[in-house]
Amino acid sequence: MPERPAAACKPEEKPARKPGRAVPGEARRVRADAEKGGRGAGRVFEKGVRPHDGRKAHVTEGTPGLRLDVPPARLFMPDTFAAEALRRLPEVLDAVMPLRRAHRADLPDAIRELSAQLTTERYALARSYWSSPRLVSAYLRYFLPWNLLRLHCLFRDLDLPLPPEGTVPSMVDLGSGPLSVPLALWISRPEWREAPLRVVCADTAPRPMALGLQLLEQLAGLMGVPLTWQIRLERAPLTRVLNDIRLRPTLLTGGNVLNEWQAQSQDASIPFGERVGEVAMAVARQLPEEGTALFVEPGTRLGGTLTATLRQAALEEGLWAVAPCPHAQECPLLGRRDRGWCHVHRELAPDAAPAWLSSLTQAARLAKQSLSFSYIQLRRAGTEATQPERGPVGARLLSDAFLVPGLGQARYACSSRGLLLVPHAARLCPGSLVACRLGSSPRRDGKSGALIVEELADGR
Ligand SMILES: C[S@@+](CC[C@H](N)C(=O)[O-])C[C@H]1O[C@@H](n2cnc3c(N)ncnc32)[C@H](O)[C@@H]1O
Ligand SMILES: [Zn+2]
Repeated sequence: MPERPAAACKPEEKPARKPGRAVPGEARRVRADAEKGGRGAGRVFEKGVRPHDGRKAHVTEGTPGLRLDVPPARLFMPDTFAAEALRRLPEVLDAVMPLRRAHRADLPDAIRELSAQLTTERYALARSYWSSPRLVSAYLRYFLPWNLLRLHCLFRDLDLPLPPEGTVPSMVDLGSGPLSVPLALWISRPEWREAPLRVVCADTAPRPMALGLQLLEQLAGLMGVPLTWQIRLERAPLTRVLNDIRLRPTLLTGGNVLNEWQAQSQDASIPFGERVGEVAMAVARQLPEEGTALFVEPGTRLGGTLTATLRQAALEEGLWAVAPCPHAQECPLLGRRDRGWCHVHRELAPDAAPAWLSSLTQAARLAKQSLSFSYIQLRRAGTEATQPERGPVGARLLSDAFLVPGLGQARYACSSRGLLLVPHAARLCPGSLVACRLGSSPRRDGKSGALIVEELADGR
């Protein structure tokens, strides 16, 4: 059974604020945290990595009588198309960047070395891993496929409509690397895959983008699906791209780039928090009415701090922070250094990763049992539904399920009423949005101070 996570306390004592407005004190605190790099500062990239100990995933339980707006919880398993694309990825990797026998034998060591660089040795980033063919192979064969699984987990259920017919959809991907985010979108969302999408990929390193483009083209051929996208690669820092006034993308993305940008900004004269403010301002300028911005970072405290920093800055710019926190107030987990943070954590089904990736992961002695990431989804304000004063409260399920006497397997959730404790929630998907009824004078959980949800609502 998982250890019960500690959680934020007394969220209800905070004064109510107008939705859509950020909390100045909170913004300062989050930014200061981001400048320090979050606790532990290390660029921890891979939270799901643990020594392989054969630990079993949690058992789910049923809760009769509750109807929800989410599918029943299940261990994470990719969709058929994505699973097949991942299974066949080595074929395109071998075509795009063949490995000599000696390099193949060295791959697990190269993966471990890159993992160390990406997790703890932040200053080693000064020597970019993209300039070492050995580490490029490690990225493409290990980090790329795991990132694709994580991003697939996010994209699959994300509210991400295409723009109205007659409009040409466009995407800008910042810090694109080997096009991980476009690749993940392509394998995850058929309607986007088939659209005449214009994609601009931008990165300070051009080589991984060129490799990623070949991967996408070859994967499309292998899967027998025509590639309908027009893709342009741009060697440019993210700030320059964001200041390009002609972009106006339907989808603006950044995958695992804020943490590198933050590491590079350590010595900059402008504090990092202010620089994030400029990014938020640019996002607010760039996003069209129907547009979405999506930044994904590791599921670590640092990743959570970076996305929370951007959330605050975005709220100050009048953007709508759609997810993960389903409200415009302070996240009840924010700033609780000893506690959790708003992020997604999904246990993996035993065969969620293709067999070749599981073997490679084991060979590198980096066995995984879960996917975890932090993210922030932004849209233009004005289209969001307002939270009614009465009735069910929207809440994002956050934690693993843990046993609470009298409440079964419960999960914490983030809501406008602060931290909630949702009873009998093991079967619900962590990361999903649920509608909760709290009752007129809700009880508080003695350990965390969270309000205890009376029942889940289905809108009837
Ligand atoms: C960890 S990789 C992520 C690649 C890909 N988005 C993914 O999720 O797998 C970070 C990428 O950001 C790029 N990068 C770092 N700082 C950048 C900056 N200031 N502007 C644009 N790209 C940057 C790096 O070259 C690298 O390709
Ligand atoms: Zn939250």
